[in-house]
Amino acid sequence: MEILVLHGANLNMLGRREPEIYGKLSLEDINQILTEDAQALGVNLEILQSNYEGILIEAIHKAWQRQDGLVINPGAFTHTSVAIRDAIASVNIPTVEVHLSNIYKREEFRHHSFIAPVAIGQISGFGVDSYRLGLQAIVRHQRRTNLSVVAE
Ligand code: DQA
Repeated sequence: MEILVLHGANLNMLGRREPEIYGKLSLEDINQILTEDAQALGVNLEILQSNYEGILIEAIHKAWQRQDGLVINPGAFTHTSVAIRDAIASVNIPTVEVHLSNIYKREEFRHHSFIAPVAIGQISGFGVDSYRLGLQAIVRHQRRTNLSVVAE
C-alpha cells in the first residue's frame, strides 16, 4: 500500500515555530517517526512539505492511481484553500486531515476547514500523534475497504 503524506505551509518551521502550540519536534523528527510507523504497518510512504499551494495540488493530482491514501496537514491552507479541497475531491483518494494543535480550541478563523468535507475524518490536537493516528486510520480504512471488495 502506498500512502502520501503532505505537510503544508510553515510546517518546515516546526521545532522553532511557536513550540508552546506545535511542540518541539522538527518536521524531520516527525517524518522519521512516520517512516518507522509505516515500516511497522508494512506500507510505503512518500512525504512532501511545501509552502506553495500549487505544489501540494500537483502532488495530489500525481497521486491519482499511484497512491492509496493521503494524510494531509494543510497548515493554514486548511482555512483558505478551496483549490486543495477540489484537488482531493478530483482524485477521490481516501484522505485523513491532521493537525498538531486542536484547531477548535484556538482562534475562530481556525475553526473552519475547507478540507474536512472531502476527508474521511480529521484528527486534531494530539501533536505528532495526530499524524501517527492519521496514518494508522488510513491504512486500516483501506485494508477494510480492500477486504470487502474481495469478499463481494
Ligand atoms: C495546523 C493548524 C493551522 O491552523 C495552522 O495554520 C498551522 C498548523 C496544526 O497542525 O495545528 O499551520 O495545521
